[in-house]
Amino acid sequence: MAATSTDFISEIWRKGIFENKVVFCTGGSGDICSAQVMAIVHLGANACIVGRNKDKAERVANEIATTRPGSRVLAVGNVDVRKIKDLEDAATTCVRELGSIDFVIAGAAGNFLAPFLQLSTNAFRAVVEIDLMGAWNTAKLTVPYLLKSVSKNKGSSRLSGRIIFISSTNQYTGTQLVTHGAVAKSGIDTLSAQLAIELGPRGLTSNVIAPGPISGTEGTRRLVDTGKGDDRSKRIPLGRYGSLKDMGNAVIYLFSEAGDYVTGSVLVVDGAAWRTGGGA
Ligand code: HXC
Repeated sequence: MAATSTDFISEIWRKGIFENKVVFCTGGSGDICSAQVMAIVHLGANACIVGRNKDKAERVANEIATTRPGSRVLAVGNVDVRKIKDLEDAATTCVRELGSIDFVIAGAAGNFLAPFLQLSTNAFRAVVEIDLMGAWNTAKLTVPYLLKSVSKNKGSSRLSGRIIFISSTNQYTGTQLVTHGAVAKSGIDTLSAQLAIELGPRGLTSNVIAPGPISGTEGTRRLVDTGKGDDRSKRIPLGRYGSLKDMGNAVIYLFSEAGDYVTGSVLVVDGAAWRTGGGA
């Protein structure tokens, strides 16, 4: 994690708004998702973060927990989101230890730059399986718990049954060197929309957050600041990369009462970068 907890959280939100809620997050040890989970935990939630590397997941969970004394942040490591059994075990562990799953962030992703002509079929498959199948597996295993959370909270709190997928903006314009990632993210956008329309009547909301380049993240180091191009921030209308606080604010908005009527949407958080070729 690149910053201290207070760097991620705006003062505009009220503490305790997510009290007694549980967020389950894949890719939870990564830069963007760990900041998002920390923001939600800071405001009252407990969390289960799921990651490929056990040590890293445990270290990040401990860091997240520092944001609010008394919070419970569970790490489930050795999870490959391509394997549905891994996710089934993770979701079961989360519910057994923390009691429910009220919110989900599906954020696990893998990507690298590669020209189409050099991209092997196996490499394409690896990214599509991590990003798209990982998102599917996450939704498949957690949506039943989200629906339970909706039923349980009926009449008292509407803050339940919400899923957010972390996508990208590459697929909106087409972006060189990320055919694999862009194809996968298109599928994720559609998956989210399908959930919104099929399960909206049962109280579930499903949205996508599409970040642009975010400072201090592995994605930006891998895909944007490769040392081979110009300074991309000069092409971003708001003149800067996004921050981890921007990522936290987007998730808080969608999970909070402020996001009650938002579903089937893509929240692009990129300073309009994708419109001017400054995207991730
Ligand atoms: C070309 C590459 C490559 C590279 C891997 N491959 N890295 N090809 N350039 N830099 C190829 C391998 O040669 C192999 O193909 C195939 O991909 C699978 O590689 P493995 O190493 O066996 O796969 P795996 O261990 O599962 O690794 C998954 C990975 C890896 C996606 C390939 O990069 C990874 O683990 N990344 C996780 C972290 C990450 O990427 N974070 C950034 C997320 S940012 P062959 O043909 O040799 O068998 C992000 C932003 C979203 O996602 C933007 C969306 C557009």
